[in-house]
Amino acid sequence: MFLVSESKSTNASNDTTNKSNDTSRSQPVVPVLTSSTTTNAGSSPSTPNLSEELKVVSQLRKFSFNELKLATRSFRPESLLGEGGFGCVFKGWINENGTAPVKPGTGLPVAVKTLNHNGLQGHREWLAKVNFLGDLLHSNLVKLIGFCIEDNQRLLVYEFMPRGSLENHLYRRFMPLPWSIRMKIALDAAKGLSFLHEEAERPVIYRDFKTSNILLDADYNAKLSDFGLAKDGPEGDKTRVSTRVMGTYGYAAPEYVMTGHLTSKSDVYSFGVVFLEMLTGRRSMDKTRPNGKHNLVEWARPYLAERRRFYRLIDPYLQGQFSIKGAQRAIQMVDHSLSCDPKSRPLMSEVVEALKPPNLKDMACSPSQFQAIQIERMASTSKSRTGNRVPAGLVNKEWTTCKEPLNSKWSANLPVSQ
Ligand SMILES: Nc1ncnc2c1ncn2[C@@H]1O[C@H](COP(=O)(O)OP(=O)(O)OP(=O)(O)O)[C@@H](O)[C@H]1O
Ligand SMILES: [Mg+2]
Repeated sequence: MFLVSESKSTNASNDTTNKSNDTSRSQPVVPVLTSSTTTNAGSSPSTPNLSEELKVVSQLRKFSFNELKLATRSFRPESLLGEGGFGCVFKGWINENGTAPVKPGTGLPVAVKTLNHNGLQGHREWLAKVNFLGDLLHSNLVKLIGFCIEDNQRLLVYEFMPRGSLENHLYRRFMPLPWSIRMKIALDAAKGLSFLHEEAERPVIYRDFKTSNILLDADYNAKLSDFGLAKDGPEGDKTRVSTRVMGTYGYAAPEYVMTGHLTSKSDVYSFGVVFLEMLTGRRSMDKTRPNGKHNLVEWARPYLAERRRFYRLIDPYLQGQFSIKGAQRAIQMVDHSLSCDPKSRPLMSEVVEALKPPNLKDMACSPSQFQAIQIERMASTSKSRTGNRVPAGLVNKEWTTCKEPLNSKWSANLPVSQ
């Protein structure tokens, strides 16, 4: 993800200029500090001064390593929430208003993200960026509460999101996410992106929008995590960096992959991919699928344009419990967001408007419609033998009359929630 260089527009005409000149927003910047010296974490004697300097302008809390060690009970495995490319994430408990660790179950639960040590970018840039991002407050962004920079340790302290990531919920076979929750998550995520692109003090391109970076609170309110920090990983690890430079495979916009030219419309493309994952229940990239169908977007393209057969895209695990009108609109939005020409893609604010209820509230299709869909799906599955996964509830007589009804090879490899 990049922060982009233009200042926030304060009037309508400037806003319009920003939007239309979108492709010029490709220069990464960090917030301006009083000194331009770049130093490395761990070797910089100026760290405390800089931290002091930044504390004045930032809302963020500055933790000591020991405080976070105690808050997470020594980073013990039972506190582990997950692991990403740059380190592990642990659950911890801190004082409501301060940095002191407290007994689990009391105070404020937090997610402590440890960052691998090797080759992190200069601490001044890192800290400056962290401070800038800490000031971005929105109900659809995971709140960055604070940080720790001590010797070569770098940790980030985030608001704890009890239901973890969308990735952990979307592909499970049992109790699939209901349609209405999927639509709500899509709307929340779109609002988060819209804020970063069009309302933040300085426009921010997310660059790594994917299901593992959409986190859910107890009520399934969705918030974006890791915004602004995608570029701050270890530079010593070539694989990881190349992943980061290009975004995550399967989500990155084609023009970005080809030219490296990044605009907010690259995020819109990634949103289209994530939304498609939510509608289909399929991962953006899945090597366990038959050859030629690994890439979700490639597989879906023919159906996106075919309004009449839109239901072939819809996750069979929903068992027909979706809004037909809503699904059509959602697919239209996906199609629009995945336009090959970035200029044809919508602004995220337009996506937000389109996804707002009541547009997608016409739940749900009737039993007879569902039956018709089942029959049609069965016929096409039998014909194409794509190996689409089939929910247990759909394994009826009709399905089992297909020569290859369940494609056991594929269904055995289905991703399950962690
Ligand atoms: N604020 C949080 N609250 C609760 N769980 C979290 C939080 N942040 C992260 N997690 C959990 O930790 C996991 C790992 O997150 P992390 O951001 O490190 O990796 P990732 O998003 O899977 O990959 P990447 O390194 O590419 O961002 C998430 O999938 C989620 O389950
Ligand atoms: Mg992440």
